[in-house]
Amino acid sequence: MTAVQTLLAILTAIICVVLALYNDASSIPTTPIQWKPCSLNESATIPPEQQVSTQCGTITAPLDYTDPSRSTVDLRLVKIPSLSKPSQGSILFNFGGPGEPGYTYFAAYGQRLQAIAGQNHDLILVVPRGTVDGSLLFECYESTVARDSDALVRRILAGGATDVALGDIWANAAGFAKTCERHQNQTGRFIGSATTARDIMGVVDALDEDGMLRFWGFSYGTFVGSILAATYPDRIHRMVLDGVINGHEIQQGFDIEAPSDADKALSGFCSACVENKSECSAARDLTADELESQIYASIEEIRLDPMSFFIEGAGAFVLDYTNVKFFIYFYLYYSNTWPMLASLIDALVRKDREGLNTYVQSFVGNGGQAAISNAPIEHMIGIRCSDIVSPPTSDLANVRKFFEARMASSRIGGDLTLFINANCAQWPMADVVQYKGTFAAQTKNPILFVGNRADPITPMVSARNMSASFEGSVVMQHDSYGHTTLLSGASLCTAKTIQSYFLSGQLPEPGTVCPTDVSRFASDNGWDKVTQALTASAS
Ligand SMILES: *[C@@H]1O[C@H](CO)[C@@H](O)[C@H](O)[C@H]1NC(C)=O
Ligand SMILES: *[C@@H]1O[C@H](CO)[C@@H](O)[C@H](O)[C@H]1NC(C)=O
Ligand SMILES: *[C@@H]1O[C@H](CO)[C@@H](O)[C@H](O)[C@H]1NC(C)=O
Ligand SMILES: *[C@@H]1O[C@H](CO)[C@@H](O)[C@H](O)[C@H]1NC(C)=O
Repeated sequence: MTAVQTLLAILTAIICVVLALYNDASSIPTTPIQWKPCSLNESATIPPEQQVSTQCGTITAPLDYTDPSRSTVDLRLVKIPSLSKPSQGSILFNFGGPGEPGYTYFAAYGQRLQAIAGQNHDLILVVPRGTVDGSLLFECYESTVARDSDALVRRILAGGATDVALGDIWANAAGFAKTCERHQNQTGRFIGSATTARDIMGVVDALDEDGMLRFWGFSYGTFVGSILAATYPDRIHRMVLDGVINGHEIQQGFDIEAPSDADKALSGFCSACVENKSECSAARDLTADELESQIYASIEEIRLDPMSFFIEGAGAFVLDYTNVKFFIYFYLYYSNTWPMLASLIDALVRKDREGLNTYVQSFVGNGGQAAISNAPIEHMIGIRCSDIVSPPTSDLANVRKFFEARMASSRIGGDLTLFINANCAQWPMADVVQYKGTFAAQTKNPILFVGNRADPITPMVSARNMSASFEGSVVMQHDSYGHTTLLSGASLCTAKTIQSYFLSGQLPEPGTVCPTDVSRFASDNGWDKVTQALTASAS
């Protein structure tokens, strides 16, 4: 630190003390953010014409908002500057996960997000705590060897794989939670979504614009957004919640309704497949219903009789019930992976070893069994579980009915990722400022909720649920398959609707459905074209 910096730090400290007299502990005094040009490493894979220029900055926040004097953390920020000056203010982003730092999304979709938002706002990513690249990375192991030998990491069954799977998941999660507590007892309580919400308001303060929040949250980022809206209703200028999570369910520890549109997504795939046999050989001469029954029959066959593969250079791999379900389920997250889903399903129903081998190879080469058996991502569990309000229990009997409800909510996806619920129900580290309230408020300006036609993890019903208690909010349907507008097929209508909202606050009519502009077996999701159209009409 130079003498000048030291002097500034002392002055800042004095100002902070003075300001602290006027502020409650939840709003921290801040200094202006110093922005410096930076290039994101994640841009390396983005075609040059789609790259955006970025600036990076940091902001200092309390480690613990219940005791701001204790210690601080530096939060990383990335800005995509407004293309017209002066900027109409900043829009802040959270890409969910939880545990997603957001760099990849900002690098890949920055141009698109800027075009949709109208090109006259600064877009700012506040890299969340607990994430890789953020502050306070949440990890549970001393070493990768320790990590790889953890039972839960090695192997996670789908809940429906056997009748002992649930108990197995539960008991392993108990050990995992304990491992994390041992490793993270210093900082594991300071990474939750309510803490992140305070960080975001700290950024709003430091930006020194109009003191109002403009926010676009995706997936789990809608939970952060809901906390912001419920906690700071008078400071909401614009808020788009895209791919909505039912916050009440997150608080309770079981995201029961989350996969409830996944079966609809698979049915939609089957219908499109039989309508478009040239792109989907699995259709043969079947009806959509027959194709769907065949898929489930094949999954059941594999459950009882898994297939073993031997990959030269990588070793043996078992394609079983859990792995097959994960393959199918994760293709439903993206609209442009339907051609790949089509050939997977074709190979699956025909038990075509050569075809299946292609899929197996692509995953084995990429970390093997763990990669598709949904190895727990520590930072995801660390953040999400610290948001749970229900008290932890060590007794599976207390929560079995919630597991059963989740498994019943979707045939294809309901029994996957139960290790998250199992960890959260036994989690010992609640966020220190955890949000325990309801999600009801009259925000100064109403929220725009966006849900997709059939999103495998954030269903329409959750968007309606959350909208119901935020006064004046509207739910619009982006009529594409996939998870959030980011990963689904493009729609100029959706883009223009979100743009009008950011520019003038105009909300769509309740019940608005925006059609997608791309055909269902297109491997291009169409957003580049929409981005070009928006950019051309803006200039
Ligand atoms: C890019 O990667 C390098 C090497 O891993 C790292 O030191 C640097 O901080 C990264 N830059 C950004 C902006 O993340
Ligand atoms: C807390 O964490 C430290 C390491 O940071 C560890 O040595 C200690 O055993 C942990 N305590 C508990 C109770 O887990
Ligand atoms: C929203 O979901 C919660 C949790 O499932 C439920 O208790 C509540 O009744 C729902 N509210 C509405 C308006 O659907
Ligand atoms: C079938 O797929 C092709 C190629 O993507 C597409 O052009 C066509 O519109 C599709 N037809 C239907 C009915 O989805």
